[in-house]
Amino acid sequence: MSMAPKSSTIEEEKCVQEYFDDNVRGWERMYDEQAFDTYNLFDSHTVIKRKEYVLQLLDESKESRWRRVLDIGCGPGIYMVDLLQRGMDVWGVDVAPKMIEQAISTAKDMGLQSRVHFSVASVENLPFPDEYFDVIICIGVLEYLSKDDLALKEIYRVLKPRGIAIITIWNHLSLGTFTDLYSLIKVVGKKTYRLVFPLNSSDMKKQNEQEFRKSYNVRRFDNLLQTHGLRKVNFISHRFGPIAINRKAIFSDATNIKITEKIEKISKIRWVPLLRELGTMYIMRVEKTSKK
Ligand SMILES: C[S@@+](CC[C@H](N)C(=O)[O-])C[C@H]1O[C@@H](n2cnc3c(N)ncnc32)[C@H](O)[C@@H]1O
Repeated sequence: MSMAPKSSTIEEEKCVQEYFDDNVRGWERMYDEQAFDTYNLFDSHTVIKRKEYVLQLLDESKESRWRRVLDIGCGPGIYMVDLLQRGMDVWGVDVAPKMIEQAISTAKDMGLQSRVHFSVASVENLPFPDEYFDVIICIGVLEYLSKDDLALKEIYRVLKPRGIAIITIWNHLSLGTFTDLYSLIKVVGKKTYRLVFPLNSSDMKKQNEQEFRKSYNVRRFDNLLQTHGLRKVNFISHRFGPIAINRKAIFSDATNIKITEKIEKISKIRWVPLLRELGTMYIMRVEKTSKK
């Protein structure tokens, strides 16, 4: 008898939800180039670049038959306009109610409410019928779950046959990992990391989001995708660095951006295949295969 995949614990989901409920404005500012001086420049650079690459991977396989896209962990609706511009109606879900409130309010302000549908829900229990979406994006979300099986099962279920999904994860064997004790312990596994650095609610309140974000062995994740009927067809990795010692970056954000951009350029050269795998941010386009 096969066992049902385990979901995240309610306590963990609550921590994540509270953290993001408290950070709606902060998350929007991450994408606001005018607010760079007030925010972490390197992290802003990372998410802005990530968005560029997500849309690039999406456009590479664009099909005229696409009608519906689901943005899982949509936050305050960061991708809404770009997805609408691609001719699809947009559904967005998020566990954080305040994120959804903001997404709805932005859609109203822009007069887009007839083509967007936002609701509070978890990736582990999507309130949609089977085979409903042509496209799913799940950006910056899986790293907050304790296990991925239920989420991938749900993504597979609501995706149409031949549908595609863009999924991101944090690669634990990236260039920045090896100088940083915290990252190295995370490589061993989230359980070990939790033993050394137990999760407590004051970490959440200190906005210490890294504390409850996990990173992945990319090869293992590929295999996990396969077991859920999802096949990786292309990927882009980026964010090379920052080089840090015990979570303290050695260089300034501006220097880190220059370094990561240089390495990123080199990583795109075909004959440097290994470098391509060493970005921290790993963005995949996956296809629903016909058989599980
Ligand atoms: C790092 S933010 C990314 C937001 C947006 N996707 C982006 O790329 O800008 C992660 C989002 O995922 C949401 N999230 C976390 N766990 C979730 C879950 N189990 N189901 C749905 N959303 C979740 C959070 O509330 C948050 O809004």
